[in-house]
Amino acid sequence: MKTKTLTELLSHVDVIAAAGTLEKEITGITNDSRKVEKGNCFVAVKGYNEDGLKYVGDAVEKGAGSIVARQKAQKDYPGVTWVQVKNDRAAFSKIAARFYDNISDRFYTVGVTGTNAKTTVTELVGAILEREAETVRIGTLGMRCGKTYRPTGLTTPESADIFKFLSDVSGQGAKNLVMEVSSVALRLFRVEDITFSQAIFTTFSGDHLDFHKTMEEYLASKMLLFRKLAENDWAIINIDDPSAVKIIHELHCKYLTYGFSEDADVRPLTYKFSISRTAAIEARIRTPRGAIDIKSPLLGRLNLLNIMAAVTSAVIKGVPFDDIAAAVAAFKPVKGRLDFAYTGDFSVLIDYAHTDNALESLLKSLREIVTGQLIVVFGAGGNRDKTKRPRMGKAASENADFVVVTSDNPRQEDPGAIIKDILEGFQPGFKNYITEPDRETAIGKALNMAGKGDMVVVAGKGHENYQIFKDRTIHFDDYEVVEKLVKNEAKLK
Ligand SMILES: Nc1ncnc2c1ncn2[C@@H]1O[C@H](COP(=O)(O)OP(=O)(O)O)[C@@H](O)[C@H]1O
Ligand SMILES: [Mg+2]
Repeated sequence: MKTKTLTELLSHVDVIAAAGTLEKEITGITNDSRKVEKGNCFVAVKGYNEDGLKYVGDAVEKGAGSIVARQKAQKDYPGVTWVQVKNDRAAFSKIAARFYDNISDRFYTVGVTGTNAKTTVTELVGAILEREAETVRIGTLGMRCGKTYRPTGLTTPESADIFKFLSDVSGQGAKNLVMEVSSVALRLFRVEDITFSQAIFTTFSGDHLDFHKTMEEYLASKMLLFRKLAENDWAIINIDDPSAVKIIHELHCKYLTYGFSEDADVRPLTYKFSISRTAAIEARIRTPRGAIDIKSPLLGRLNLLNIMAAVTSAVIKGVPFDDIAAAVAAFKPVKGRLDFAYTGDFSVLIDYAHTDNALESLLKSLREIVTGQLIVVFGAGGNRDKTKRPRMGKAASENADFVVVTSDNPRQEDPGAIIKDILEGFQPGFKNYITEPDRETAIGKALNMAGKGDMVVVAGKGHENYQIFKDRTIHFDDYEVVEKLVKNEAKLK
């Protein structure tokens, strides 16, 4: 990577004042003082939890040649250029974009936002577009291009990490980029300098209110993605979601809607759900380019919605129907998203639903395909949005036959208190439940209860393999636990 001078990097940044020379070659950009290398530009941004200003000293010690921050230097750092900017987060993105030659502009980029279904839709779109050209995927599962993989820890990584990854894989000829775009990322300017050709809206319901404070602010954050779209770009909107109309109202670009609603541009003409491992969904989907027949191993109504989102994206992109159908047929459940952990007399499903809306859609979807009892095991995270706990309780009590309330990363909180918050939301008189704070025991109890045709849904953790307590984090994997319990059960018989 060619070095650039600070002057070049700051060309689109709102600079308030600068102390020191700007004709300095910059060797890299970061907002993480631990990653600073000699000659790097350290951007001291205020993030989700931390404020980079606290780490300026560290960054200088590691060899940072310049600091970009929203305030003046509090002390003199000899030989270090200090640039004060109006907006630290926007500056970080703009500097990174310039440093990496606006590399994202070379891609056809699809952004996926919504409270739920981002990962599933991103992966589906990626699988379809990949039939035409190498496609980079960025999201909860990490950053991937062909065989190159980089974990991220964030659903939407920092701008500089995105640009760096795109730059590192630029030799692989990728033409498409599909990424999950979280509301937090939008608010924090992480995708400020990425140009999207399509943006997909999946669902909207209460989550992350610890960060966004109000639902209005949360929706407004999601809307930022659609504001970025130009006249000839495309928005793809789940019309079944009650917030869809608000988003459509604000669009300045072309759009298509998808959903089960009669007036959706893309909707199923016929459909059938089952628990078949190869064709759990069979549907004929109406699109503006004609009807397409699809078969998918994904489960249930909400996944048919997700498939429709991806089909809409592909139809806009001009992918041939045969390729779309083949990609959908070959697409296996994403780990932890409506994924079977066991099938026998009864079945056990693992799912990541950790909001009331997701839990409700999940259970409603499963109700349509389960012949016996629907048993759900779930908890709610500690030190995160508390308002969703009773709403999750309500969703479970209204939509499952039996509920086992347990723990899901209690963090600093008392697991019993979290469970109590969940119970508060149960519909009046609901008695088909037990509480069991130990997640493994809770899953065991649910499995013991299951009979022929029943389905146990273990919700909340999905692919996660840990459980966070006040004083420790332990290895915990719903898949492993189910496997172990089912094996022991088999031994007993
Ligand atoms: N179309 C949908 N509507 C509502 N909930 C959904 C939908 N698709 C999936 N979900 C639920 O959301 C959970 C998370 O899905 P995922 O694709 O990982 O979304 P995200 O990346 O937005 O967290 C799934 O495990 C499932 O319970
Ligand atoms: Mg995700």
